[in-house]
Amino acid sequence: MGRIEIVEGDITRMAVDAIVNAANRTLLGGGGVDGAIHRAAGPGLRTECAALGGCETGDAKITGGHRLPARHVIHTVGPVWHGGSRSEDAALASCYRRSLEVAEEHGLRTIAFPAISTGAYGFPADRAARIAVREVRRFLAEDHGIEVVYLVAFGEQARLAYERALAEASGR
Ligand code: AR6
Repeated sequence: MGRIEIVEGDITRMAVDAIVNAANRTLLGGGGVDGAIHRAAGPGLRTECAALGGCETGDAKITGGHRLPARHVIHTVGPVWHGGSRSEDAALASCYRRSLEVAEEHGLRTIAFPAISTGAYGFPADRAARIAVREVRRFLAEDHGIEVVYLVAFGEQARLAYERALAEASGR
């Protein structure tokens, strides 16, 4: 069964089979981790994304990694936080599940996720970390050939949120 690893740092530096991008529905780039990924990948990524016709909230689409050390980018669109009453939890869970399904369809073994929706989209970090850990653990328990899922924390606060969520989920 695959394992979860929490790492702190810049996801654009990770040499994995795929990094996940917290994109918007246009898939044409933006700020935050999306901007960082497009800058590091170079203009070829935007050209490839432009042909995808956007992506619904909670879904995921794959492209090449272009100039990134990662071989692929899986673009997913997280929910905008509106206080929790608009199915934000379910949409965020779907981002993790769909990204892992797309990775599996392509035979990928190592995947790195940023903390989807917790920046510009305003999703509370601890709540998002619990959802991320729960969905990834569920998926790995079904044994899909994925070896490592990195949860990439951009800063100490995000890392602590993941560590708490992981400790909680493993009953510690
Ligand atoms: N590596 C890893 N994580 C990062 C990096 C990085 N280089 N840069 C930022 N983060 P956000 P969202 C973290 O705002 O909330 C974009 O404009 C960041 O600290 O990037 O899903 C899109 O185009 C935060 O924890 O994504 C959309 O319009 C997390 O990544 C919108 O923002 C997500 O923050 C999506 O908003």
